[in-house]
Amino acid sequence: MEKAVVKIVKLGGSVITFKDKFKALRTDVAKRLVSELSRYYKESGESARVVVIHGGGSYGHPIVKDCVSKYGFIDRDCYVETADSMDTLNYVLKKYALAAGLPVVSLPPRSFCTISSKNPVCHIEALATLLYKGLVPLTYGDVITSDKGFEVISGDTLAWYIARELRIGEIVFVTDVDGLYDSDPKTNPGAKKISRASIDEVLGFLSISSSKVDVTGGMVRKLYEGRVLGLRNVKVKIVSGFIENNLYSALTSDNFVGSVVCY
Ligand code: IPE
Repeated sequence: MEKAVVKIVKLGGSVITFKDKFKALRTDVAKRLVSELSRYYKESGESARVVVIHGGGSYGHPIVKDCVSKYGFIDRDCYVETADSMDTLNYVLKKYALAAGLPVVSLPPRSFCTISSKNPVCHIEALATLLYKGLVPLTYGDVITSDKGFEVISGDTLAWYIARELRIGEIVFVTDVDGLYDSDPKTNPGAKKISRASIDEVLGFLSISSSKVDVTGGMVRKLYEGRVLGLRNVKVKIVSGFIENNLYSALTSDNFVGSVVCY
């Protein structure tokens, strides 16, 4: 058997949920994205492996924000409530994925990750074993223990971490933007889309405008983290999740609506 190509797909919380509506899922978008993943998985046969990660959106962030603003930290009740909410979102996505024929297995990070001296430490052996047996690990942004108490691990951090540990060559971030711009297209009509660039080029562009730009500001952090974690030889695709078949196109080609960043 030829060596399988492994990819990580992170489904952003703002794509699969309504960010401003508490615990509201974008049902149609979520179903469509897992169907596109399933199509890719089935067509690739044994030659492809995929890890799917999802964010929290309105099932995660508002709960954490609320208790951090009240108490200044994540207390035990908040931890339990956030974990339960993330499990609820994960359960629904898992059911959609299974119905679409994608053999996902849920792995909550709170059972294999912790934060030690501000760094995530994850025991991903079980995830890797399931992956290499042809199953699709489904994990997510979550609340985890840390040496200080409880913290959040984002799905983005998990994506970088797993990519580094398993030497995975491609990460697909499914987002609510149609690509990476050199400044905010909402406020700057002259903003130019970056279709393909190295991470150094991207950080060079974005540092110019990031202070006033929300979209790219969030994106800078996302991309910079990969650099901090020392990722190399990784192709990162920023993909719009709102366009039909765009995720499938990104998984099968470099021809999709979005941007490619090379590490
Ligand atoms: C956040 O995960 C999880 C919690 C808040 C518990 P992410 O940071 O990956 O979520 P999104 O994609 O930004 O919504």
